[in-house]
Amino acid sequence: MALLRLQKVKKSFFGHKGEEIEVLTNIDLEVKQGEFVCLLGPSGCGKSTLLNIVAGLLSPDAGAVMVDGQPVGADRVGMVFQEGGLFPWLTVLDNVAFGLWVKGMGKKDARAKAREYLRRVHLEEFAFIYPHQLSGGMRQRVAIARTLAMDPPFLLMDEPFSALDTRTRRLLQQELLHIWQQTRKGILFVTHSIEEALLLADRVVVLSGRPARIKQEVTLPFPRPRDLRRPPFVFWEEELKSLFGEERDGQEYSQTFYDRALSQTAVLPAARPFVGRSV
Ligand SMILES: Nc1ncnc2c1ncn2[C@@H]1O[C@H](COP(=O)(O)OP(=O)(O)OP(=O)(O)O)[C@@H](O)[C@H]1O
Ligand SMILES: [Mg+2]
Repeated sequence: MALLRLQKVKKSFFGHKGEEIEVLTNIDLEVKQGEFVCLLGPSGCGKSTLLNIVAGLLSPDAGAVMVDGQPVGADRVGMVFQEGGLFPWLTVLDNVAFGLWVKGMGKKDARAKAREYLRRVHLEEFAFIYPHQLSGGMRQRVAIARTLAMDPPFLLMDEPFSALDTRTRRLLQQELLHIWQQTRKGILFVTHSIEEALLLADRVVVLSGRPARIKQEVTLPFPRPRDLRRPPFVFWEEELKSLFGEERDGQEYSQTFYDRALSQTAVLPAARPFVGRSV
């Protein structure tokens, strides 16, 4: 059964002159238990709006959103926002522990768990300082630790690594894959980066410009760790670039896209050891 199911979801906003701005149109999307799905789409197309709807922070104008067979509820979904949103009056450690206290965990256990997740994002030594004393990228890592510590069955991540330098991004991509492989959460992950999507996803969903519709879905049947310099990835990167860049019409394109992609996939050997750009 799908862990997340969106059916015919629509959403519009009103502009400053009262005009209707259609952002999402007829979005049908499913994410299964243990599946890692990346959403790729141009800036302003409606990716954050879609995640906010799944998190229950916005209501769709039409359509249905079900998580684990139930209407959206905060207890089943964890979200890492595009901009962290930490509590400035709490230390880094207590920012991560806060949600655990709210859920009823004792202070000592919550802090121990928070510390463990800070270690996973390589920030353990910053536990006792306040968010304003961190860099933007470090604050984002605290926000990631805070959401992961809550251990929700479904994880929404809105460009969580885009503010990070390349090395830190690599480390956290690796850590996220590790946590995901251990816990088999469903993940819906927004990114602008084709490379990141190829590295992380089981399936990439490409959205059109606003109003966003699903332009293409691409399943990546590759084992991990992945080496993006190898032929299948170089090929898929080019294909996704074409789709993402809207150089071709998605409808006419889809069949040849799959034919060509599958012919490449056939030559795929089993997983190789870590090389270069892989995580
Ligand atoms: N509360 C709002 N009121 C009015 N318009 C909004 C509101 N929230 C978002 N929008 C508009 O909806 C569109 C989609 O915004 P959204 O933040 O979902 O885009 P996005 O795909 O996440 O972009 P980015 O990649 O830059 O983060 C934009 O045109 C934005 O201006
Ligand atoms: Mg966004």
